[in-house]
Amino acid sequence: MKLFGTMENVNGMLHIGGVPADFAVRKYGTPLIIYDETLLRDTCRTFRDGFRSDAFETVVTYASKAFSCKAVVRVAEEEGLSLDVVSYGEMYTAKAAGFPMHKVYLHGNNKSDDELRAALAWGVGTIIVDGMAEAKRLARLTVDDIRGIDVILRVNPGIDAHTHEYIRTATSDSKFGMAVGAPETAATLRFLHEAPGIRLRGIHCHIGSQIFEEDSFLKAVEVMTDYLVDIRTQTGIALDVLNLGGGFGVYYTDTDRPFALKPFLTRLAKHIRDCAAARDITLSRAIIEPGRAVVCNAGTTLYRVGDTKYLSAAALHYLFIDGGMADNPRPALYQAQYEACLANRMNEVAEKTWRVGGKCCESGDILIPAVKMPDVRTGDILAVGSTGAYTYSMSGHYNRLPKPAVIFVRDGRDRPVIRRETPDDLIQYDMD
Ligand code: LLP
Repeated sequence: MKLFGTMENVNGMLHIGGVPADFAVRKYGTPLIIYDETLLRDTCRTFRDGFRSDAFETVVTYASKAFSCKAVVRVAEEEGLSLDVVSYGEMYTAKAAGFPMHKVYLHGNNKSDDELRAALAWGVGTIIVDGMAEAKRLARLTVDDIRGIDVILRVNPGIDAHTHEYIRTATSDSKFGMAVGAPETAATLRFLHEAPGIRLRGIHCHIGSQIFEEDSFLKAVEVMTDYLVDIRTQTGIALDVLNLGGGFGVYYTDTDRPFALKPFLTRLAKHIRDCAAARDITLSRAIIEPGRAVVCNAGTTLYRVGDTKYLSAAALHYLFIDGGMADNPRPALYQAQYEACLANRMNEVAEKTWRVGGKCCESGDILIPAVKMPDVRTGDILAVGSTGAYTYSMSGHYNRLPKPAVIFVRDGRDRPVIRRETPDDLIQYDMD
């Protein structure tokens, strides 16, 4: 398993942030998600320091859907990031954490009136509008609001980020945003521009997630700046904010090839400047919205190994953990791959291939189909790496499993940031 940040093997025991894995699981139980706070903060700073320009303001917005809780929102704030929220719950978390609401960007393709009202009442800085229907609802809510609200329209540049060729689709069928160049998109921009209480500032795109092709992002800049020119020509509206979304790919296994973040971010900011200058566009602000890349490698999940089982007909060694698809549904949902190791026996030779099964009543609850490890024993600690993104935030209660505890570790100290759920938490909404 690749070790990131402060993770180290100390005499065969995994330490994260100076805290031994066996100590952490004795103190907090399992499954346990541990975040390396030093790495988390360093990554935030890499984004802030890399994505800079002297031509316009640069904003890095942490997409909190990747992992949202008060502690991580506070880290984002302390490290100078803004915040992307997509629901009342994520917005409420930001407010409860004391996050400066003017640095919050509200997303979503079907925001409720309650969400829009809360955004206005709590002073959310920017709403990313998804379509005409939302634009009209928002305009009704802002008509008497003397403060008004900054708005960005989400558009779809039709870039397939997962191929080396830029497959530009003429008509996009994405549920998000509006197609670049479509007449209804221009009509929505005009409407937003004229609506009282709404300050239309720019356009937004998000071309996908877990992207490894740098050129896809650069191409998006070209399409989006071309579109800013078209908007100016066709409607006379000069927009000065460009939001390029998130999607920066990360390492899960050795088949992933993430690009070096800082130099790429510098290149991206320069490309935005050059594309804007070449098209005679004055930008006041450029925004990116990384989620996964901020938190993924900083997170590790620790499980306790329970039983093992050998199936001779399949020549298969199973090991079972005290969690699975309830705390990490990504393998079952996306065939996501992870690396793992025995946190308490890191110096032993990995001689056997194991299949890691979760404890849910579901055949598909396989966390890792095949991983080489030593001869696993009941009570060992299994560490699964790079679980910091879309893991806790996508976890559920299937089989009435309680959600795990989450802790931050740094400089030999540990602090709980989300407490483990109890059986009483699980029945708290049941009526007698
Ligand atoms: N901005 C917008 C508008 C987004 O829709 C997303 C992610 C992001 C930013 C952050 O993207 P990131 O930097 O994290 O790639 N549940 C899936 C990932 C879904 C991503 C959805 N949108 C997974 O577990 O892989």
